[in-house]
Amino acid sequence: MEPIAHLIKVSVPNYLAGLPIPESIGGWFRLGVRDWFALLPPTALLAGVGYMSYRAFCPHGRPAPNGCVNLKIKKDIAKVVDSVDIEDISEKAVFCRCWRSENWPYCDGTHGRHNNECNDNVGPLIVTKKS
Ligand code: FES
Repeated sequence: MEPIAHLIKVSVPNYLAGLPIPESIGGWFRLGVRDWFALLPPTALLAGVGYMSYRAFCPHGRPAPNGCVNLKIKKDIAKVVDSVDIEDISEKAVFCRCWRSENWPYCDGTHGRHNNECNDNVGPLIVTKKS
């Protein structure tokens, strides 16, 4: 624990105290190239922490694991293929295209929540039968 305590109590404060942070706004314009290079590592660290926080806590920043579209439907098989006989459709059938429906392959409206959380715009495929 002593190395960590030294890092937090001595090393980091000394490092931060040595950064060329100006006292005024005008001071930023008087910084030299060497000063800007000294500010790069803490700026990159802050940007990284901010980005990771955004990814962790903001639903819009959270991608599906491994970029998968299908998160839960028939994950035990290699390929999800569904077949619906057109004769079984009375007048209209609404098929899910967001892969979030609890009533797969039919839409149950879950795409609305998905769209709100992910700022997406997916919707169902509606098949109608001419009479
Ligand atoms: S629930 Fe998936 S498109 Fe409606």
